[in-house]
Amino acid sequence: MIEIREAVKTFENGVTALSKINLHIEAGDFLYMTGESGAGKTTLLKLIHCDEFLTEGEILYNGAPILAQFPLHIWRRKVGFAYQDCMLMENRTVFENITLPIQIRGENFSKMNSRVKTVLHALQLQDKANKRVNELSGGEKQRVSMARALIGKPDILLLDEPLGNLDKDTAAIVFKYITAMNEEGTTIIMATHYVVRVDSRPLKMIKLRHGRLVEKEYV
Ligand SMILES: Nc1ncnc2c1ncn2[C@@H]1O[C@H](COP(=O)(O)OP(=O)(O)O)[C@@H](O)[C@H]1O
Ligand SMILES: [Mg+2]
Repeated sequence: MIEIREAVKTFENGVTALSKINLHIEAGDFLYMTGESGAGKTTLLKLIHCDEFLTEGEILYNGAPILAQFPLHIWRRKVGFAYQDCMLMENRTVFENITLPIQIRGENFSKMNSRVKTVLHALQLQDKANKRVNELSGGEKQRVSMARALIGKPDILLLDEPLGNLDKDTAAIVFKYITAMNEEGTTIIMATHYVVRVDSRPLKMIKLRHGRLVEKEYV
């Protein structure tokens, strides 16, 4: 589904964050992306989301360049991104932050409301809907960012270290929800320091080091 070919990303300051990455992601995959801080994980996710663009190489979606097929706003409906640094509107409520992307699309309000309720509950945020984001903890903000990314039922979900600030129990609940979405067909690409091995599921894991793909484990 997503084919990354000979991808190179060099930023304006001369830093090469990714070098010659080749990677194929299939529909329905759950791909773990590991690697030390600075390895290039966030950059790769931003390239897939079209927040950044390659210096060399190409990223194809179903065989053709992404923006040759869709305008950016349509691509963003297919791909949800839970940013590592959250990127939320601090002075707005949780509800406002989560619903903004779907409000823009003009979705039916009551339908949207019930979906928001389900997602908030699944991410253990049921009591936070009317709280302003600047009143939340880091782990709560991270889950709001995740809720916003998945509320529109994207085909592809990009998660940037989503479990990093969560306690063990909350992380397990959130992980279970992500897994359930994957089982229903959502393709998941998750940057993480922890790889959870679930026995019954095939494992796809890549490791980046200094912008290079140094390990690939497809079991
Ligand atoms: N916008 C940017 N401008 C310049 N350098 C950047 C930018 N974003 C990331 N980098 C650099 O690219 C490298 C990879 O960063 P990043 O993708 O954030 O790594 P990771 O998410 O694995 O920690 C780092 O050296 C980082 O400093
Ligand atoms: Mg990162």
